[in-house]
Amino acid sequence: MPIPIELKEKIKRISNLPTLTKSASTIMNRINNPKTSSRDLASVVNQDVALSAKILRLANSAFYGIPRTINNVNEAIVILGFKVIYTIVLSLTVFDMFPDSSLSLHFDRKKFWKHCVICGLLSKVIAQKIKNRKIEPEDSFCAGLLHDIGKIVMEQYLHDDMHKVIDYCLKSGKSFYQSEKELLGYTHADVTKLLISRWNLPDMLYYPLVFHHSPEQSLSDKTKQNISSPEINASICHIADYLCYSDEMPDNEPDFAQPRLEPASLRIIGFTERQLELLKDRIPEVLENIESYNILFT
Ligand SMILES: [Fe+2]
Ligand SMILES: [Fe+2]
Repeated sequence: MPIPIELKEKIKRISNLPTLTKSASTIMNRINNPKTSSRDLASVVNQDVALSAKILRLANSAFYGIPRTINNVNEAIVILGFKVIYTIVLSLTVFDMFPDSSLSLHFDRKKFWKHCVICGLLSKVIAQKIKNRKIEPEDSFCAGLLHDIGKIVMEQYLHDDMHKVIDYCLKSGKSFYQSEKELLGYTHADVTKLLISRWNLPDMLYYPLVFHHSPEQSLSDKTKQNISSPEINASICHIADYLCYSDEMPDNEPDFAQPRLEPASLRIIGFTERQLELLKDRIPEVLENIESYNILFT
């Protein structure tokens, strides 16, 4: 999927598109290195005092439900595991990267993050349901949490375009993605692709972030015989995002219409329409869980 020329031209003019902080990159590289021990990782994390404090705060929140107090980063790593620490570090870094500038009256940052947390939690529920050993539910959670990051970049750096799209969504009743395609010739998924191109993210995150509105496009084997885990994760994120706009979901980006569900996504994860319907029963439980993750952006 090539990046549209219109967007390339616009992005070229943005000289300060954010990159990951050095400490976040170091920590994430260490986590991806199978030789790293929890003590090694803790010593790197501890060098970033602000990040360590936030990790501890989140690790001790109701979200992770650990029955005792976690007193230091090493304990947090041992108890929560490398994957969870990866999610926490990456999401904290991304949230810090884009402080709320409140540029748009119609783009409610709190509601946006709430949508992302719900999408992450629903992705995790779906990943647990499909019982594919190669899919780790934490990867699906992390992808859901960050899937719409391109919208934040648009709000901050492509404000006029963002405003046009929001206006059009409200008037036309079309989804955000559809409106972007009609008006701009590029979408927030294209923006995400540009943003994360130098972040060195694993495919399990890259695919859902870039293909969560077009999971069928992610497939390298067009016969759909050999579907990889990152491709499955893109479909999981697509379905979770779709569910975020269902009638059962109160007060979640209600101004924008539900994006289209690509039927191929259900086939890719091996789900029936009935199983999709049943997922809606899990929404109340997901909503109960979101409040504690809010400490990320308060
Ligand atoms: Fe999206
Ligand atoms: Fe979304």
